[in-house]
Amino acid sequence: MTHEELMKAAENAMQLAYAPYSNFKVGAALLCGDGTVFTGCNVENASYGVTNCAERTALFKAVSEGHTDFVAIAIVGGPDGVSAGPCYPCGTCRQALAEFVKPDFEVCLKDDAGTVFVCKFNELLPNSFNLHN
Ligand code: THU
Repeated sequence: MTHEELMKAAENAMQLAYAPYSNFKVGAALLCGDGTVFTGCNVENASYGVTNCAERTALFKAVSEGHTDFVAIAIVGGPDGVSAGPCYPCGTCRQALAEFVKPDFEVCLKDDAGTVFVCKFNELLPNSFNLHN
């Protein structure tokens, strides 16, 4: 699967975002080592802090179905579901992912022009606290 195909899955997931409070819609697509893709969207709540981000929705779907080997995630988001630059994962989602991914895990994002670019997990959360160190 190409980075662009994974991003397309994230864009489809973004359409399902439940974001009536922020109107900021996010979609994520998490690629497993065996090729399986789990998607997720943000799910907001009237009690704002209960909100779950798109990345953790995808991650928790995957882990809860027995998948813990991940190679890449695509993330896209923006006001009303229109991407206007990279939607980097929040700190909580970075820490949630750190439990399972290696430093070279790929994070696929969209730049200001809508082109997919890739960064390594280690760039986003170096020296992470996890099971392996
Ligand atoms: N959000 C995500 O889904 N992922 C992130 O990494 C950042 C923020 C969501 C949470 C909330 O529903 C909305 O974006 C605005 O913060």
